[in-house]
Amino acid sequence: MWQVACTADHVSRAGDWFELTCGPLSVLIVRGDDGELRAFQNVCRHRGNALCQGAGSGLSELRCPFHRWAWDLRGELREVPSRRGFGAFRNEDLPLVLVRVGEWGPLVFVSVDDGVEPLDEWLEGVPADAAWARLDELRCVATTRTPVPCNWKAVADGFSETYHVQGLHPEMLGSIDDVHAPQRFWGRHAVSYQRYGVPSPRLGPDVGDQEVWDSFIVTQGGRMGPAYAEPCPMPPVPEGQGVRDVIAGLLREHQRQFGADMSDFDTEAMLGLAQYNLFPNVTVLLWSEMVNVLIARPGPTVDQAELVSFLLLRHHADAPRTQPPEFAVPAGGDLGWVLNQDVSILQTIQTGLRQPGLTHLVLSNEERRIINMHRNLEQALGILEDGPAGSR
Ligand code: FES
Ligand SMILES: [Fe+2]
Repeated sequence: MWQVACTADHVSRAGDWFELTCGPLSVLIVRGDDGELRAFQNVCRHRGNALCQGAGSGLSELRCPFHRWAWDLRGELREVPSRRGFGAFRNEDLPLVLVRVGEWGPLVFVSVDDGVEPLDEWLEGVPADAAWARLDELRCVATTRTPVPCNWKAVADGFSETYHVQGLHPEMLGSIDDVHAPQRFWGRHAVSYQRYGVPSPRLGPDVGDQEVWDSFIVTQGGRMGPAYAEPCPMPPVPEGQGVRDVIAGLLREHQRQFGADMSDFDTEAMLGLAQYNLFPNVTVLLWSEMVNVLIARPGPTVDQAELVSFLLLRHHADAPRTQPPEFAVPAGGDLGWVLNQDVSILQTIQTGLRQPGLTHLVLSNEERRIINMHRNLEQALGILEDGPAGSR
């Protein structure tokens, strides 16, 4: 199926390339001299060596280091050393193996299935739902990859509900309404809409501005700039406004340094989150000034996965695109306050899920996105048992 591979910033200029690895698959995404984005299976047509690893720029050809066969950036075979030894064959019979490539906003998707439906159909109602967000203003500023000690589905499930906020992220409760978070389902994808800068109803009616401010600072203060990444005094709240308006103003102000004009985003838009769960393994956290893409990929064994994240920040629509730095975070390394908590549970989840007495899970209304993902996955894999409606 379609997989998120990288962002437009990873492959914006002619000669830029990016390797997506997912389980045994390796796909090269390459920007050609003609400006076209193409993707190829990462395999030499001579003896099957993988051509390129990682990511980079300035590529003028794809040359296999083993015996130096070379293809141009369109995937056409250009050169075969000591060619006569092979007898007669035509270059056009041995192009690189094309992979389907598609783009939604700044995200680049690939699929090795030639028969896969077009990406805009695959994405169902998601692009229309996010159209207000002017995704063309986003630029990827960092990629991180970190190994995690669980199956990829446990990672995806963890980013498919807000029910765990009160368990895993108690510091967030001062600044999120984790109770009234409406969900919307298309066929395979879904979204949850969350409001930040307001206290959780779980804390009762008497939560003051200071508590909201402190919670926001601890869990995501860095969004307003480095000065707010650590506990700091709450600015005065002007007459007729709330602490939420103050936070929204500081977010807008901070984003201005990247050339982003967010003056038309009101407080509600500035402090909302649309959390898209793209089937089967991607969570797109769409905040007003930032997008965080979290991808769960299979690891070396079924009990291991890789968590890949792309951080994108709002600039102005004409801001140049450059390849973002990639950070390899070791297992247990620092991913930020909230993500560290999300990752901290993965080892014990995997241990528990392995216990033979666990025959089924008990899921709430708030965990329907998990149900939807697994139902779709079982259908895609041909293992969905038919039962009476509502039994699963
Ligand atoms: S395997 Fe690539 S040139 Fe021989
Ligand atoms: Fe979480």
